[in-house]
Amino acid sequence: MNENRSTFTGKLGFVLTAAGSAVGLGNIWRFPYLAAKYGGGIFLLVYLILAVTFGFALMSAEIALGRKTGLSAIGAFRQLDKRFTWVGVLGAIVPFIITPYYSVIGGWVTKYFFAFVSGDAKASAGDAYFTDFIARPVEPILWFCIFIGLTALVVFLGVDKGIEKVSKFMMPVLVVLTLFVAIYSMCMPGAMEGVKYYLTPDFSKFSATTVLAAMGQLFYSMSLAMGIMITYGSYMKKDVNLESAVHQIEIFDTSIAFLAGMMIIPSVFAFSGGNEEALGKGPSLMFITLPKVFDSMAGGTIIGAVFFLLVLFAALTSSISLMETLVSILQDKLHWDRKVTTGAVLIFCILLGVPSSLGFGVWSGFSVANMSILDMFDFISNSVMMPVVAFMTCLVIGWIVGTKTITDEIELTGPFKSKKLFNVVIKYIAPVCIVLILVSSVLDVLGIAKI
Ligand code: PFF
Repeated sequence: MNENRSTFTGKLGFVLTAAGSAVGLGNIWRFPYLAAKYGGGIFLLVYLILAVTFGFALMSAEIALGRKTGLSAIGAFRQLDKRFTWVGVLGAIVPFIITPYYSVIGGWVTKYFFAFVSGDAKASAGDAYFTDFIARPVEPILWFCIFIGLTALVVFLGVDKGIEKVSKFMMPVLVVLTLFVAIYSMCMPGAMEGVKYYLTPDFSKFSATTVLAAMGQLFYSMSLAMGIMITYGSYMKKDVNLESAVHQIEIFDTSIAFLAGMMIIPSVFAFSGGNEEALGKGPSLMFITLPKVFDSMAGGTIIGAVFFLLVLFAALTSSISLMETLVSILQDKLHWDRKVTTGAVLIFCILLGVPSSLGFGVWSGFSVANMSILDMFDFISNSVMMPVVAFMTCLVIGWIVGTKTITDEIELTGPFKSKKLFNVVIKYIAPVCIVLILVSSVLDVLGIAKI
């Protein structure tokens, strides 16, 4: 089977495709609201430290593991050590949890794009516009169905080169537009306080939950601890320099997240003040502040429409790669026809997505530890399952099969410059930190203890 595996044409193709999967709602929607909620500068600092240590080590390990075995997560772990096949299985379950609620947010983005196109831009800047919208029983579900339907259609027809071509054009435009909006937000009256909040770490706001949130975000944003990078690695050619490819993906992904924060946090300060309530808005933050920014701009309706179109596009490329993953996992296991499998995955996603959407309205009474249904799915995948998968990956590579298995693969194209860092992080730092953080923050969220 390995001989037939298609490969990326070269390093650029690999980096762009991996970055296309990595850059999505996680960067533009999730990162800014977490940074706003968890203390601004301190969250950013913790995130950056984790990115160059954990993120680097784990992404290198996953890509190298995929390239070495030529297999996806489940097969790759089975080949390393039969007893740990379940780690691959657990990783493979994560995208099943993420795809449905990811698409609910994708539906919100679709709605905003249409609001801007159909002359509703002014209304969307109103305070209650968003909360009223997500609380409705039917409308958000319709937008969610449109988004997931579009995703399924592309997967159904087969992902071809078209998407890659459009991505190459749209992604740079997204970067330029984000930069433009970020500079505009920073220049608004009152916004400088937000810039300070975002860039100056306040150590009194540091807690285990901050680190867990940053770690969960890192995994999510870089598509780690869910088998995706293992699969991508299995398509990578042996002569590509893996270490520098990892650096490039990380820099790309982190820069976009950083800019998105620059765009959203200063505008929260400009429009709603820097109080806890405004900053802690969570998943709704982007949808509440950005329309206000566009409303205050000359030509804001057009800029807003283009902006939401690009975010929609980034969200779609990510949801397509998520659904593609689900389909291929099921096909590997069940050997169903591709079209039947896509249909089954679509139904599954709708079944799980509908409660996430209703959780903001008619089912808002149902909550655990103060989390909505969508937040709960997000918490289970990002703050529980992904850390467990990451921990086990470190354990299997660092202690069972040995880091040499991975570093040899990375050294195929020359010296591995950060080999020492890699070994120390995988063997000691990552596993110890993950356990400490996981335990303390789960206790914290459940209200049992605060550390
Ligand atoms: N990394 C994506 C984001 O930040 O939006 C989310 C994601 C997309 C995860 C695709 C996994 C994946 F396969």
